[in-house]
Amino acid sequence: MKIEKIMHTIDRDPLLLTPGPLTTSLRTKQAMLHDWGSWDAAFNGMTAEVCSQLVAIAHAEDTHVCVPLQGSGTFSVEATLGTLVPPGGKVLVPNNGAYCARILKILSYLGREAVELPFAEDQPADPQVIEAALVADPGITHVAQVHCETGTGILNPLADIARVVAGQGRGLIIDAMSSFAAIDIDARTMPFDALIAASGKCLEGVPGMGFSIIRKSSLKASAGNCHSLAMDLYDQWAYMQKTSQWRFTPPTHVVVALREALAQFHEEGGQAARGGRYAANCAALIDGMRGIGLTPFLLPAVQSNIIVTFHAPAHPEYNFNTFYQGVRDRGFILYPGKLTQVETFRVGCIGALTPMDMRHVVQAVADTLYDMGVLVVA
Ligand SMILES: Cc1ncc(COP(=O)(O)O)c(C=O)c1O
Repeated sequence: MKIEKIMHTIDRDPLLLTPGPLTTSLRTKQAMLHDWGSWDAAFNGMTAEVCSQLVAIAHAEDTHVCVPLQGSGTFSVEATLGTLVPPGGKVLVPNNGAYCARILKILSYLGREAVELPFAEDQPADPQVIEAALVADPGITHVAQVHCETGTGILNPLADIARVVAGQGRGLIIDAMSSFAAIDIDARTMPFDALIAASGKCLEGVPGMGFSIIRKSSLKASAGNCHSLAMDLYDQWAYMQKTSQWRFTPPTHVVVALREALAQFHEEGGQAARGGRYAANCAALIDGMRGIGLTPFLLPAVQSNIIVTFHAPAHPEYNFNTFYQGVRDRGFILYPGKLTQVETFRVGCIGALTPMDMRHVVQAVADTLYDMGVLVVA
């Protein structure tokens, strides 16, 4: 094994260049070194504090509440759809990638009617096409829109979509899993019924808790909609209001880690600074990868700063598993592509990472491809 490979395997965690779980700071990890009781006022005060900070990040203090839920992000997406969309509701789903497709699958499990509005995977959802679909079908009650489609890294034009959905008097449910806290979402100017995200994404907490920032009036009107006890966000919220406790065993360590991660988010300068660091990470990554002949799948105009899909090298010696392992041995974890037609891999720009880390990952990619015989010079 070469020296640089051994260095990374001695005592360091590999850096996670993925859509999550992400690399977290030592402070965030250290916050988890205690035990907390679920009935204890100290813990329940922290839940309330975390929730009010999350609502404030969306500028939604006057209109919305935050309902946290145990589990990964998908649990909160499913719970939000199951709670807010009544059994007779109908959901328009603009689809330009894997996480949009997951929403369609969830709706089919829930037995809620869905209308798919397909877009190419390298094209953002078009607000005018969405508006036309809403005009054509007055039976559509909600639009479920993925903000950053993490399957490719494409950014959908949320402000314009929110405007047309509100203009047509329908509810908007946003999957902002990979964008919340890094890309501005302002409830005062982008009306939405619900925004869903999770602890372990751009807030740089650890995974284990999703949350939905829900318009109070929509939540109050949703009692009795949900098909499932565990997924019923109305019930979760009503119980928390009454008792200040989570309904079932809370993810205590995740909540305290998120509180610590939020403190660092504010120290860094909030959403603008967090988004700025990710933009610098993304620029360093794309520049470096272009330097070794690797090109992004998306055009710059639609590329988010969250995650980048790269075309795999068109070389007979290239194989993703060998590539992945070589980069991993050098201390970095990449992500496979999610496209069916083109061979790709993905590199995340989010988490407790800096542009210097991105330059190091580019070097690890170059060294690995050189060892594989794909690159002539490392
Ligand atoms: C846009 C989007 N939606 C939903 C999810 C699902 O989250 P989880 O894997 O935590 O269930 C992800 C995960 O990366 C995501 O990026």
